[in-house]
Amino acid sequence: MIQVITAKEVDLIEVIKLADIIWPKTFEAILSKEQIKYMMKMMYDLKKLKHQFHNEGHVFLIVKEGSKSLGFCVYQLDCQEKGKTKIHKIYLLPEAQGKGLGKKLIHEVIVNARKNDSNLIYLNVNINNTKAIVAYKAMGFEETKREVIDIGNGFVMDDIVMEMNLKKSSLENK
Ligand SMILES: CC(C)(COP(=O)(O)OP(=O)(O)OC[C@H]1O[C@@H](n2cnc3c(N)ncnc32)[C@H](O)[C@@H]1OP(=O)(O)O)[C@@H](O)C(=O)NCCC(=O)NCCS
Repeated sequence: MIQVITAKEVDLIEVIKLADIIWPKTFEAILSKEQIKYMMKMMYDLKKLKHQFHNEGHVFLIVKEGSKSLGFCVYQLDCQEKGKTKIHKIYLLPEAQGKGLGKKLIHEVIVNARKNDSNLIYLNVNINNTKAIVAYKAMGFEETKREVIDIGNGFVMDDIVMEMNLKKSSLENK
C-alpha cells in the first residue's frame, strides 16, 4: 500500500539515502559531477537538515510502499511571506516516477497549505530539467520568472520559478 508519512527527525537519514540515489541520476545530464557533489553536500548535510526540521519549519514528507521509501518532498509554510508555501525539494526514485506519486505528494502539500490559509505554492526547478517542468505544468504550475542564483565556488543555479495559485488550482479534481 502506498502512503505518505510526515517524517520524524530519525527519518532524515532515509531522506539522505534517497537523495544519494536520486540526485546524481536527475542531474547527470544537466550539471557537472563537481557541481552535483557540491550541491549534495550543501543540501543534504544531516546537521543542516536537522536545523531545517527543528528551526526553519521545513516539513519532510516521505512516500512509501509498505516499508520501502520511494521518495520525499520538503515544504515550508509561510516561506518568506505569509500565505506562500514553498516546495524546497521533491525527489522520487527513478522506478517510482511517472506513476502519480509526485502528484500525491503535492496534493498533501496543497491540503496542508490550504489549512494554513496559503493561497500559493511555489518551487524552483532547473531550467534544463524538462521532465520535471512538464510534470509541474501538467499539475497546474505556471512559470513566473527565471532566476540565476550564485551558490558559491563558481557555481550557479539556473532556475525557473513556478507557482500554483491555490484559489484557482484544481489538482484535487485532476
Ligand atoms: C518531478 C517529479 C517529482 C514528478 O513526479 P511524478 O510522480 O513523476 O509525476 P506524476 O506521475 O505524479 O505526474 C504528474 C503529471 O505530470 C505528467 N507527467 C509526469 N512526467 C511526465 C513526462 N515525463 N512527460 C509528460 N508528462 C509527464 C503526468 O502525466 C501527470 O499529468 P496528468 O495528471 O495530467 O496525467 C518526479 O518525476 C521526480 O522525482 N523526478 C526526478 C527528480 C526531479 O527532477 N525532481 C524535481 C526537482 S525540482
